[in-house]
Amino acid sequence: MATMKDVAQAAGVSVTTVSHVINETRYVSEELRERVLKAMEDLHYHPNTLARSLRQGISHTIGLIVPDNANPFFADVARVVETHGFKAGYSTILCNSDGQLEKELTYVNVLLAKKVDGVIFIAANSQSEHIALLTEQKIPVVIADRHMPDVEVDVVLVDNYRGGYLATEYLISLGHHRIGCITGPSDTTPGADRVRGYKDALTFAGLPIDKNLIVRGDFRYAGGASGAQKLLDLKEPPTAIFACNDAMAMAAMAVIRERGLAIPDDISIVGFDDIPQASFTSPPLTTVAQPIQDIGRIATDLLIERMSGSTSRPYQRIILDVKLVIRGSCAPRRTGDD
Ligand code: RIB
Repeated sequence: MATMKDVAQAAGVSVTTVSHVINETRYVSEELRERVLKAMEDLHYHPNTLARSLRQGISHTIGLIVPDNANPFFADVARVVETHGFKAGYSTILCNSDGQLEKELTYVNVLLAKKVDGVIFIAANSQSEHIALLTEQKIPVVIADRHMPDVEVDVVLVDNYRGGYLATEYLISLGHHRIGCITGPSDTTPGADRVRGYKDALTFAGLPIDKNLIVRGDFRYAGGASGAQKLLDLKEPPTAIFACNDAMAMAAMAVIRERGLAIPDDISIVGFDDIPQASFTSPPLTTVAQPIQDIGRIATDLLIERMSGSTSRPYQRIILDVKLVIRGSCAPRRTGDD
């Protein structure tokens, strides 16, 4: 494996010069710098960045913790964070807590050990207290997507309550009275707030809240499928379903079709997120769109500001709006239904 000495010999410079190029600790002419970088590339030399970050206290690396990297919503957020951070000179370490607090703790410790310069934190659930391990070390943190009380950091959220309200209000406007709800994890703010919006829309329309129509999901395909099974097994199945994210809505659509029912003629369905796949389902999914690109970009910009120490403004709590995207998965309730 190539050493710094091999690089120096190949570039025709001193080891000291190679060190200054890697660590940017002293001016080196563009001509010498280029020679060193080419020698490093030719010799596949990767300097011990952890050692460097230990010395300098900066690693040009940010951490991103998400609850499920396989979910297209988080995959899209991760892509925006990585792209935006890379443009600003940061590498990104993606950590998947899998919605488990124990795994989240493991990754927080990994990011501490890696001396990351900052972290974008999407909590496994609202009981998570692991963010404190970062803030007490004065590591800049931005919370995205899932709010956590009593934490003094920048926060980027969406109006989940309004999204749940919009989805349900739309189905009511199509004449649906028995609307099922497949929830997200109730111990996350998106999960809880979307159901609150669903309930208030029913109440505002003078419709009863039937607890049998509210089934627990998990923001994953499995939860969407089992939630749809439960709703369709009811003595009086719903004529419409609001699934609190697109992954569950897509799984519910498969279950509905397996039962020989048609979407939207027999059952209308609305999702939440507007992941790219939502417009390619059959029929295309009506959903509540989150500004996924903005969430990732704004969270990264806020973090870069804090990491660079270029701001002393008070922490912000940014709540982005959502919008209903009407496609082909909903239709007016058929007369004679419920
Ligand atoms: O699809 C994953 C869900 O979990 C999204 O709705 C997002 O808001 C996150 O909380």
